[in-house]
Amino acid sequence: MLPTIAWRGGSVIMIDQRKLPGQETYVRCRTYIQVAQAIERMVIRGAPAIGIAAAYGLVLGAMALTAETARSLDRDFEKIYERLERTRPTARNLFWALERMKAAYERSRGHGLRSIRTALLAEAKAIEREDAETNRAIGRHGQALLRDGWTVLTHCNAGGLATAEYGTALGVIRAAAAAGKRIRVFADETRPFLQGARLTVWELDKDGIPVVLITDNMAGWFMRRGEVDAVVVGADRIARNGDTANKIGTYSLAVLAKENGVPFYVAAPTSTVDAAISDGGGIPIEERNPDEVREVAGRLVTIPFAEVRNPAFDVTPAAYITAIITEHGVCRPPFEKSLG
Ligand code: MRU
Repeated sequence: MLPTIAWRGGSVIMIDQRKLPGQETYVRCRTYIQVAQAIERMVIRGAPAIGIAAAYGLVLGAMALTAETARSLDRDFEKIYERLERTRPTARNLFWALERMKAAYERSRGHGLRSIRTALLAEAKAIEREDAETNRAIGRHGQALLRDGWTVLTHCNAGGLATAEYGTALGVIRAAAAAGKRIRVFADETRPFLQGARLTVWELDKDGIPVVLITDNMAGWFMRRGEVDAVVVGADRIARNGDTANKIGTYSLAVLAKENGVPFYVAAPTSTVDAAISDGGGIPIEERNPDEVREVAGRLVTIPFAEVRNPAFDVTPAAYITAIITEHGVCRPPFEKSLG
């Protein structure tokens, strides 16, 4: 299984996703600031993996706490919490994991620093373990939607690298393949960060699942030609009504899928659902460094100071989504009811 992130000997180790597939190297974080920077710089990415990383980041922060009074302890904990929270605004799982960690802190804070550290490490490990189990369950439910011989299109990377292991969208594909179905995957390249080309193709190839790399602007044409049987993507945040934020380009795919009568599935754990947000209009969308668009693999592809927009995510209205697959089953519209 893919070693996305692990707690080892008092530090956090992550595979460096910026270097894949060329190099399989690992980054070791010894402080919560290093974890926050690793999330911001995309060493680790994908909503559930970001949540797990932040949880371990809080553990590292707690290891360095020295405060004597309850008040100063709370203040120092809050500082660590806020730094990790500021890393990536769209991924709901980041805030969900941090909220769980805060609850563990509050339960243990009356029992001294040692208990706090033990409780936080146990909670972070539980978040990681449960995510792996959740993805298997998503896979089990979702694979029933895919038929033998189908070609499935996916966008970005919602695989083992984006989670504790196995993946959400790729979990569905993996489970279908494990059930003996012959599934072929079209992987969108996913400009500007190329998660599809670099990570999804790498993962599926390692698993022996046939994968064809296409550029993002080819998807519509293949749908029109009847070469795509289903689209399966992950999610960064899902509003109560089912509107779904995912990697930029997902919305266009969903519109194309509807136009061409192709089912459009979102695979995500319920920890991605934000019950506080009624519809997609309330989802914060991260804007990233313009150089990610100006450059490809570190090489300038335009004039040096070209004006750029670089939203990392878009929102697909629920009306374009055939079903949302969670660890509890396949949710159909109206999502307000089926997700609740
Ligand atoms: O910017 P990224 O690479 O973190 O974006 C990742 C995605 O959009 C994924 O589809 C999403 O987080 C789901 S991962 C299981």
